[in-house]
Amino acid sequence: MSHVDELAQRTEDEVREHLKAGKLVEGLQHMSPEYLKGIRRILTVSADTELVSAPAYLRAAQHAPALNNFGSAMSIIQDELAHAHIGYRLLGDLGVDMNALIYEREPGAFKYPYAFDVPLDSWYELVLANALYDQAGFVLLSDVHASSTFGPWKRALAKVDKEETFHLRHGRTWVKKLAADPDDKKRLQASLDWMFVLTLEWFGLPDERKRHGIQLEYGFKGKSNDQLRQDWMAEVVPFMTEVGLDVPAHHDGERWVIDCPFPRAFDEEAKRWGDEISWDDVMVRWKARGPMNVDYVNRLQRGYRHA
Ligand SMILES: [Fe+2]
Ligand SMILES: [Fe+2]
Repeated sequence: MSHVDELAQRTEDEVREHLKAGKLVEGLQHMSPEYLKGIRRILTVSADTELVSAPAYLRAAQHAPALNNFGSAMSIIQDELAHAHIGYRLLGDLGVDMNALIYEREPGAFKYPYAFDVPLDSWYELVLANALYDQAGFVLLSDVHASSTFGPWKRALAKVDKEETFHLRHGRTWVKKLAADPDDKKRLQASLDWMFVLTLEWFGLPDERKRHGIQLEYGFKGKSNDQLRQDWMAEVVPFMTEVGLDVPAHHDGERWVIDCPFPRAFDEEAKRWGDEISWDDVMVRWKARGPMNVDYVNRLQRGYRHA
């Protein structure tokens, strides 16, 4: 236990009372050890996700059709690095060694969604990532923004939300434009076929498999995994349908239903989906990480090692 951890000495009951009175948690002085552990975990997932999106988007940005399009991609990448910085700074305030966390962790110890471990290899895949992955990030962060009991993060997310809206719009504008051309549309559809299902996985285990107890009770998030997956489909499916692209999901009058095997085996080299598998099998794939994990993390850590 570090010196800082000893400052989070409220009891669980005191934290519950504080929250019940409608107050936000502003720092270690308001936290129990359990709250501190939970908020560190969710902040790490968020900051890692923002950070790894930078090398993932940079790889794809090289396929930009023109220099000004490359510029737009670079400004998105800059935003993502700033979002990561917000998360790591807050973790620093909560007693985490930021340098160790960012620069000295093993690639396999990073906590971002598996989707970012699969390379984005074209401009089609970059703009789809903006339309799908940034939409997933937006759904998750909007929930945190609305529900979070940790004041410093809640306030910082007002700015992050606005920038994510720009990333999303960038993705949608391009998807719409490319979908209007028959050849471009074919290539978009081929990428969408693997990227859509991969983003469904982003939201994690289904509610019947996962207990959120403390995450929901302490307001680290407001909605369950399945609710968030529904929110994401409610944004993505109508848009893709509108521009004439096919996604394996429909609305049955009550909720969004997935029309393909899910969860599913994934051939990460061919970027192709296979048979239905169990969530236990999915967790094995997630744990092993995907093709780009080591490359991206090494890229992010390289300057620090050589300094
Ligand atoms: Fe971001
Ligand atoms: Fe983004």
